[in-house]
Amino acid sequence: MNELLQSAADRASRYLGEIQERSVAPAAAAVAAVQGLREPFPAGPAEPGEVLALLDELGSPATMGMAGPRFFGFVIGGALPVTVAANWLATAWDQNAAFDSVTPATSLVEAVALEWMREIFGLPEGCAGAFVTGCTMANFSALAAARHAVLAGQDWDVEADGLFGAPPITVVIGAEAHPTLIKALGLVGFGRNRLVRVAVDDHGRIRPEALPPLTASTIVCAQAGNLNTGAFDPLPAISERVREAGAWLHVDGAFGLWAAASADRAHLAEGIGLADSWATDAHKWLNVPYDSGIAFVRDPEALRAAMAVTAEYLPAPDGVRNPSDFTPELSRRARGVEVWAALRSLGRSGLDDLIARTCGYAARFAEGLGAAGYEILNEVELNQVLVSFGEPDVTARVIKAVQAEGTCWCGITVWQGRTAMRISVSSWATTAADVERSIEAIVRVASATV
Ligand SMILES: Cc1ncc(COP(=O)(O)O)c(C=O)c1O
Repeated sequence: MNELLQSAADRASRYLGEIQERSVAPAAAAVAAVQGLREPFPAGPAEPGEVLALLDELGSPATMGMAGPRFFGFVIGGALPVTVAANWLATAWDQNAAFDSVTPATSLVEAVALEWMREIFGLPEGCAGAFVTGCTMANFSALAAARHAVLAGQDWDVEADGLFGAPPITVVIGAEAHPTLIKALGLVGFGRNRLVRVAVDDHGRIRPEALPPLTASTIVCAQAGNLNTGAFDPLPAISERVREAGAWLHVDGAFGLWAAASADRAHLAEGIGLADSWATDAHKWLNVPYDSGIAFVRDPEALRAAMAVTAEYLPAPDGVRNPSDFTPELSRRARGVEVWAALRSLGRSGLDDLIARTCGYAARFAEGLGAAGYEILNEVELNQVLVSFGEPDVTARVIKAVQAEGTCWCGITVWQGRTAMRISVSSWATTAADVERSIEAIVRVASATV
């Protein structure tokens, strides 16, 4: 056992070392070689050490360098070393984190992490939290609580009676809501085609004056951190309209909620604490390993009513918090352990530095590529940068060529009709030198392509 785990640690360290210099995108030969794992189901057992070696030798070279310092696609953080190590330890514990009395250590660690995040985000005391796989499921969980509360307000028990024949609910979203929010709304039963979409400005922010009339049967979904521009919906203005109507305000803050952790950026997240529910990720900007999302709900009973296994749920004895009363799953790995480890090791100043540093690097990308003559399409206030290299097909070709060149990896998007390169700086591992090296590579590749 010791030898096997030691070998895994050695292989992982070597991988994380090599990924600093390797092409960010895997080489075509490595992607072809991983096909070697496609084999008939073995007739009998193999040595565990051999299995691990096979996985490392064929699997590792074919991975995308998401854990490295120059992956800027999607919104992907790396994994802080302490979170990788905590993940290994928690995997060795192999706790099924459903019940407090059965798995007291993970239950406590997760409760502490939730409380720290509640403070970081400035959410109300006493709100409930749940560890889920990502922001899609965090949106799903929070919206299930919203559905419960809004319908309970009309004497309808949605957990018992479902949505058929229920009083209608109007769900309002911004025109630039993340597609997974729309998916989550569909999963909760609100119907993707029934959503009311509100006009947004050129940064994707909801125009509060465009909100339709709201009632106590309305759920408004705002966004903290647009995937493309990093922009925040104007939460103070939206929440005022929501409060007047007695409606429910949900905030999708997959990465944007973390702006609240940085003294320089907290103003962007102003008004966050005024909502009724929130969804965020830890696998993005907090830099814990996949997968890790978190839902928060102001009224703990709304989340518990939606998620507890029995319809006639009973509070756990002596105020004990059973994690499974708040999550869609019963059986679940204790993914809050890595969140705790990240927060415990960073502390307030370390977290502030992580957010501020990555935002600073995004600003530097905008400055460097702007100075080289390329158009920056967004105001870079957070960690997202949109760059146009000219005509859509030219921009698309530059992005492909940058990915193939391998120094860094950036993705493609279409922002309000403009094709753009997306640069998202979300990893603890990125240094100023990585940013300069990436700017140099992008400019070099672009000038050869354009
Ligand atoms: C604003 C927003 N909401 C939700 C999501 C979905 O998050 P996840 O992939 O963790 O489910 C994302 C992903 O980028 C996002 O940017």
